[in-house]
Amino acid sequence: MKICVLPGDGIGPEIMAEAVRVLRALDLKFEMEEALLGGSAVDATGNPYPEATSKLAREADAVLLGAVGGPKWDGLPREQRPERGLLGIRKELGLFANLRPAILYPELANASSLKPEIVAGLDILIVRELTGDIYFGQPRGIEMREVNGKGERYGFNTMHYTESEIRRIGRVAFEAARKRDKRLCSVDKMNVLETTQLWRDVMSELAAEYPDVELSHMLVDNAAMQLVRAPKQFDVMVTGNMFGDILSDEASMLTGSIGMLPSASLDENNKGLYEPSHGSAPDIAGKGVANPLATILSAAMMLRYTFAQEEAAQRVEGAVKKVLAQGFRTGDIFEPGTKKVGTREMGDAVLAAL
Ligand code: NAD
Ligand code: IPM
Ligand code: MN
Repeated sequence: MKICVLPGDGIGPEIMAEAVRVLRALDLKFEMEEALLGGSAVDATGNPYPEATSKLAREADAVLLGAVGGPKWDGLPREQRPERGLLGIRKELGLFANLRPAILYPELANASSLKPEIVAGLDILIVRELTGDIYFGQPRGIEMREVNGKGERYGFNTMHYTESEIRRIGRVAFEAARKRDKRLCSVDKMNVLETTQLWRDVMSELAAEYPDVELSHMLVDNAAMQLVRAPKQFDVMVTGNMFGDILSDEASMLTGSIGMLPSASLDENNKGLYEPSHGSAPDIAGKGVANPLATILSAAMMLRYTFAQEEAAQRVEGAVKKVLAQGFRTGDIFEPGTKKVGTREMGDAVLAAL
């Protein structure tokens, strides 16, 4: 079981250290090797996704990632930005299926910004397409254009999906729904965008192969509203890269904090990259206060999906549940009456619970 560990930038190394300690505490033989991705890689090599990292990632069975990016690198040309490194590894490894579960632990009902009765028992899975859409579309750029006889700057991106890209992410979502409550909501903007008309058509065609799954469609603006109005109406949601990025951050807050939301990005053979859904949190980096649970839960997803170690995955998830029940809270999920801890102490508590 070979794992390529990419701590990344900002809070990345802090949260990754805890996830690695948790993995080492399991009675499993992992080979873990670290490499650079993002801003730390730019600083060391000038490239956000260096060849050495690519090689290690390709040879490993799974990749565990902290987060990349930060203000230090915001002024760089786009190809050198830390985020390009992340997009590069997703694309190179063919990680088209991003699973972002939003589960509310009962202990965190009051940490959500919504009323407890609206979020109690929440268990949604967002399936986000991850290697297509406007994120990767050509042409793209900012250039000077002649408009009404005078030059001005012109910014452009291209939204696109092929039928086969939609079908393969659709299958992942239908299969996931089949193992859950058998309800799939496909989210698009077909009233305006042709790409997403095709998305809706292909999802509807696929539904014939999954008669046991109830498919519904929703426009993305309404979906954003419904997620905060009545989130429990959803079981599995499937959507494109950009809408999925936005809706999954929104859904994370239903669970109390983005610091709780893990994710798995899978290829066709369940090789995967596992990372929290949040970013490098520059505002709290280096302070030892970040919530490591999303990263620890991402490691649990890795045990489940890539290594088929369901029992170990459940042990880790059980330990997270236990520390929440014991009242341990990082700042993002803190409420009066609970024990405020830092990143390392939260890791200690998970290890003790294990
Ligand atoms: P962010 O997710 O880093 O932070 C948003 C807010 O959530 C901040 O207030 C932060 O302190 C808080 N937060 C995030 N994770 C937390 C945790 N584990 N514990 C406690 N609080 C947490 O989003 P942002 O500020 O928009 O982006 C910062 C940088 O991260 C940018 O450079 C962005 O491109 C990058 N980013 C990277 C990834 C990734 O690597 N997968 C994802 C999103 C953003
Ligand atoms: C995420 C992040 C990334 C994305 C960025 C950092 C490229 O926001 O993983 O959700 O937009 O996919
Ligand atoms: Mn995001």
